[in-house]
Amino acid sequence: MRYAVTGAAGFIGSHLAEALVARGHDVVGFDSFTDYYDPALKEENARELDVRRVDLGADPIDLAGVDAVFHLAGQPGARSFGHVFPDYLWRNLLATQRVFEAAVDAGAPVVWASSSSVYGDAERYPTPEAVLPRPNNPYGVTKLSCEHLQDTYARVFGLRAVALRYFTVYGPRQRPDMAFARMVAAVARGDEFELYGDGSQSRSFTYVADVVEATIQALEAPPGIYNVGGGEEYTMRDALALLGEIAGRPVRVRYGPPQTGDNRRTRADTTRIEQALGWHATTPLREGLAAHLSWASARVGTA
Ligand SMILES: NC(=O)c1ccc[n+]([C@@H]2O[C@H](COP(=O)([O-])OP(=O)(O)OC[C@H]3O[C@@H](n4cnc5c(N)ncnc54)[C@H](O)[C@@H]3O)[C@@H](O)[C@H]2O)c1
Repeated sequence: MRYAVTGAAGFIGSHLAEALVARGHDVVGFDSFTDYYDPALKEENARELDVRRVDLGADPIDLAGVDAVFHLAGQPGARSFGHVFPDYLWRNLLATQRVFEAAVDAGAPVVWASSSSVYGDAERYPTPEAVLPRPNNPYGVTKLSCEHLQDTYARVFGLRAVALRYFTVYGPRQRPDMAFARMVAAVARGDEFELYGDGSQSRSFTYVADVVEATIQALEAPPGIYNVGGGEEYTMRDALALLGEIAGRPVRVRYGPPQTGDNRRTRADTTRIEQALGWHATTPLREGLAAHLSWASARVGTA
């Protein structure tokens, strides 16, 4: 099969593209190598891949001969208030609308990356009587808008699409702005880790290989929206203690203020994807964190 992967130079997209190539597929990647974090890291991620430099918000998107599109390009990050909002509009909403248009023209199905951020805090997940999820930040609002676009394109043009709400993905190559990336880098270098808030915030952390597996399997899922998240919920304090055990020494923590827009708690209910595909996350946090730390340690030469 021939697949397009957008965001192929990014954290999750590069793992996905490599997994597809390893399974014998042709993969054409698209990425604009944004400077949200050091583009040199993206060059490194894309080294073994065929990634075309395309801005999905502006350039032609050529999907000729493509059997399906994995659309992972986007502007991530919960800290999305203020002057950065145009990046979220361009890289999430506009880019996704243009990918949907191109996919309709090419007759190709789309599996794309939404986010647990559409939900806001677990305590405020929509009850049956609530109308809409309530994101805590503009990032989540753009992802939720993309989900509405999916629904509109499906009804009006017959687009076949699956949205995956990823829950806090971690592992080698994780974006350097994310907590685990900063945490394993601090341990690998022997530095302090700055924890935002008191560490009681919790997440359904999800190992990147599990996310890649769910994303590939989602090609077979009935169109719709699915949660993709780790089975267990951990607080940041639990995760830090576990990392200390793995490293053989406690993580040195400096406490910083909580960040505006961060959720207190996320919790993945994966019943829907389990029923549709039999998928559930299989990597325990201990195993995933050990792999993440060993990757980070190798990079700073302390493995
Ligand atoms: N990492 C997570 O925990 C997580 C959780 C929920 C959802 N997501 C979503 O999954 C996707 C991948 O996330 P990631 O963590 O790998 O992020 P990432 O930033 O590493 O990857 C995204 C890639 O998209 C590219 N991109 C951005 N705008 C583009 C445009 N206009 N045209 C072409 N390329 C563009 C960037 O250059 C980057 O390489 C994103 O859509 C993100 O919002 C990630």
